[in-house]
Amino acid sequence: MRAITVRDRDAGISGLTLTDMPYPHAAENDVIVRVHAAGFTPGELEWPGTWSDRAGRDRTPSIPGHELSGVVVELGYGTTGLTVGQRVFGLTDWARNGSLAEYTAVEARNLAPLAADIDHTVAAALPISGLTAWQGLFDHAHLTTGQTILIHGAAGGVGSIAVQLAREVGARVIGTGRADDRDVALGLGAQTFLDLDADDLRQVGEVDLVFDVIGGDILVRSTELVRPGGTVVTIATPPTVQPRDGRAVFFVVEPDRARLADLAQRLRTGRLKPIVGAVRPLDETASAFARHRRMPGKTIIQVADE
Ligand SMILES: NC(=O)c1ccc[n+]([C@@H]2O[C@H](COP(=O)([O-])OP(=O)(O)OC[C@H]3O[C@@H](n4cnc5c(N)ncnc54)[C@H](OP(=O)(O)O)[C@@H]3O)[C@@H](O)[C@H]2O)c1
Repeated sequence: MRAITVRDRDAGISGLTLTDMPYPHAAENDVIVRVHAAGFTPGELEWPGTWSDRAGRDRTPSIPGHELSGVVVELGYGTTGLTVGQRVFGLTDWARNGSLAEYTAVEARNLAPLAADIDHTVAAALPISGLTAWQGLFDHAHLTTGQTILIHGAAGGVGSIAVQLAREVGARVIGTGRADDRDVALGLGAQTFLDLDADDLRQVGEVDLVFDVIGGDILVRSTELVRPGGTVVTIATPPTVQPRDGRAVFFVVEPDRARLADLAQRLRTGRLKPIVGAVRPLDETASAFARHRRMPGKTIIQVADE
């Protein structure tokens, strides 16, 4: 089967190569999915799981990409809950071969059924961004109506979903990003937008929550804005500082079939709109990672037609 693989950690994006790889094996509780559309995360070539398995053993050549939408073509021993021919979407394991391939093996519990009226290229934009935004806002930061939240990278994959979910719950949303993200962030529901290259973060005043996707100095300066009792949630790197009288949380997104189903239902009813900035074929994955041109939301790789 055709797949994108990486072998050399030092090669970076230029190491992403279209390769002929063996058809995957369906282990216990796995399904094999015929991938129609795949998503990737900028920076995943830095993740340890891209290079080694859970025991720390080298697993190259490995297939990156951890979001997919496709059709189940095979069930592993003991697999329940999904059937052959079913449309599904979800997350693949961090430390196994991923979704930038014609077929991939995934634990069934990491996938949710996908309704026939949702396009695979839209569904593939939802698993990591949707689950990360939901878990950050509600499981880790306990966002509620009336609170003020500062969301960094508001036009990006995770941030654009976080803005929509935060607005829906009745929070006041301040989005940030680059200057040309302004219209997208405001269009998604942010009430205020800050250009991180030009505006002073302190003009935001006090906030109840910070949702950070950038880390570094921006995370440190944002932490100072948090009210007593407030929370900083970051998905970039473990924080080195925390609010004077509050919490700082770093987490890694977890699979959640029920939440995926809920997010898909929001998508169907128009309550949630993942932004698909571009759709590219599998053999253009390396240039999609390199992103020659800035665009909002996710870039999706279309592996097969419907
Ligand atoms: N912990 C977890 O579970 C988890 C889950 C998902 C993602 N992540 C990580 O979270 C990060 C964001 O993921 P994503 O998919 O949302 O990425 P993305 O689509 O690239 O979104 C990030 C957004 O933030 C903007 N941005 C970054 N640095 C900025 C700066 N200094 N000033 C202004 N804007 C800035 C980006 O603009 P530019 O492109 O112009 O920089 C982009 O619009 C990645 O590092 C990813 O690896 C972690």
